[in-house]
Amino acid sequence: MTVLSGRVRPTAFLYLAAIFVASSATAAEIWPKAAASSAPNPALEARVHSIVSGMTLEEKIGQMTQADIRSITPDDVQRYYIGSILNGGGAWPSMNMHASVDDWLKLSDAFYRASMSTDMKVKVPVIWGTDAVHGHNNVYGATLFPHNIGLGAAHDPLLVQRIGRATAAEVRATGISWAFAPTLAVVQNPRWGRTYESYSSNPALVRSYGEAMVKGLQGKLGSPTSVLATAKHYLGDGGTFHGKDQGETRTTEANLERTHAAGYYGALKSGVQTVMVSYSSFTDTSTGKSWGKMHGNRHLITDVLKRRLGFNGLVVSDWNAVGQVPDCTNWHCPQAINAGIDLVMVPDDWKKFIAATIDDVRAGRIPMSRIDDAVSRIVRVKLKAGLFSASPATGPHPNASALHSPAVRELARQAVRESLVLLKNNSNVLPLRRTGKILVVGRGADSLPMQAGGWSLTWQGDQTTTADYPYADTLLSALRKSLGPNRVDYSPDGSGVDVHNYSAVVMVAAEKPYAEGAGDISFPASMRHTSRYPQDLEALEKVSGKGVPVVTLLYSGRPVAANDLINRSDAFIAAWLPGTEGMGLADMLIAGADGRARFNFTGRLSFDWPAADCLPKSGAIQFHRGYGLSLASRTTLSHLPETAPVMACPAESR
Ligand code: BGC
Ligand code: BGC
Repeated sequence: MTVLSGRVRPTAFLYLAAIFVASSATAAEIWPKAAASSAPNPALEARVHSIVSGMTLEEKIGQMTQADIRSITPDDVQRYYIGSILNGGGAWPSMNMHASVDDWLKLSDAFYRASMSTDMKVKVPVIWGTDAVHGHNNVYGATLFPHNIGLGAAHDPLLVQRIGRATAAEVRATGISWAFAPTLAVVQNPRWGRTYESYSSNPALVRSYGEAMVKGLQGKLGSPTSVLATAKHYLGDGGTFHGKDQGETRTTEANLERTHAAGYYGALKSGVQTVMVSYSSFTDTSTGKSWGKMHGNRHLITDVLKRRLGFNGLVVSDWNAVGQVPDCTNWHCPQAINAGIDLVMVPDDWKKFIAATIDDVRAGRIPMSRIDDAVSRIVRVKLKAGLFSASPATGPHPNASALHSPAVRELARQAVRESLVLLKNNSNVLPLRRTGKILVVGRGADSLPMQAGGWSLTWQGDQTTTADYPYADTLLSALRKSLGPNRVDYSPDGSGVDVHNYSAVVMVAAEKPYAEGAGDISFPASMRHTSRYPQDLEALEKVSGKGVPVVTLLYSGRPVAANDLINRSDAFIAAWLPGTEGMGLADMLIAGADGRARFNFTGRLSFDWPAADCLPKSGAIQFHRGYGLSLASRTTLSHLPETAPVMACPAESR
């Protein structure tokens, strides 16, 4: 600041004024008006009003409650007027991982009937939400699509829309009508364990995919194949410092709008009905203001999302996330409700939540107008979803074959093909000819858990075996189907085989499955794949450099440093987390009977790919976003730099 002889110079004054404006930026200065595309419907609004105005306080707070099926029964739903239930990752009917579609339908119907037999003037149906984030992934026998990072590499919004349609049919086949998807995180740091839930680090791509996925999931709202979609996690989940799960997003509000909100514009355009708030917190680097946890951020939830962007659906909190707002517990957080949260995901402590929140209203800590707004949003969404007219379990809905019909499996197989990014194909080793024998190496090559990643049957995607996926192919089984069982041998660690007996080696390097914070590569740990999984390098070294071409696929939820693996391979494919359809991998590896490729590689990176153990400052990117070879590229990748493994990374700026 420049002060001359006790007087502020005019230029300095302007400068101060500018800072003042910046620090008190109103929603109107940063955010475009009304991104949501919903024409007001007076008949609907009148119905909402008449239902809500006839409700008691107990009924209203019950409607604002969402409990996990592990902690609530249909009787509870009836008695407490519960508005919503969910099955968190790894929650199934009777806690049976192999529950049948019929078991899901029966449970759904029991909850629905309970909600329709309360003593409310107008009975309000309960709504069930599920994390169908790559197909209906909690359900035994469901087709699992590639995780979002793979779809991002496919650069095909229409494909994403069709996957949304197919996923909606899978979900409706089990009597569930709400999917907690899509994740619209624009991930800035691949250390984050949720990177694979993100389509891209490119806001424009996330925007177009958000639009397509919501369109696909919601279809025609209220129809038997429609589910409500959820834009999550609002806002800035992909921007946390060091990629820490549930961490702190340090940026400006203008950059929140420009980068992290992109997907929400797409989702709102497609009429998304629900938004889930992020566990992360926001610190505004232009003003220095620390806003704290998003769940307490009234400015961004109410002023921006609801008022400025015109969102009239419901805002749901994340799993026990209100408990992270200062002075709150998992079951008591008037701050979060006052900030604009309408439905509270309080998986276990829902009874305490209801009692405490009723108290809050009686004591004036939450105004009745806020409660009425929240409940109106919940009822409006339920009306639009058609829930008042028929049970999602017994009304018209797709049948069990929606989960693994030939058509849905073919769609997932196509998605696998489109998602693969070819990073190296020296001497044009791909596609492999159908003559000769193939040696398959690597722990991941016959592991559905590794091929599917987190959010697969269980929350972390672990505690399962390949046998838990009855309609699926690992890469090994796909190659055997494609070439014949006698033409493919398997050695998980590359030992006990003479490589010279084979015409080619197919190696799979893989991350173990993980979800959320358990998947963080916490700073300052190395981002090199083989620092975390040295057995993959050991296996590869046993088979490489012997004059037999080696094709390596990497199953990973993010780009990782892999120059050592790439150097020891003739061809290298970033395969992400492809899901149940291993046949899509075989399609790309093996030539047709005429010796020619059956499909070309069209996938392109939707994230930058790191060159070294620590995250790119400028220049340390090995392959830039957008990179990817086609079979016609004829690019020879020369030896890439291999630095000594790093135990702890120096400071990273993001
Ligand atoms: C649940 C998940 C949830 C997680 C949050 C788990 O116990 O099964 O659905 O996302 O907790 O911490
Ligand atoms: C996750 C959400 C998910 C919820 C319900 C949370 O831990 O952050 O993405 O929808 O659990 O399972």
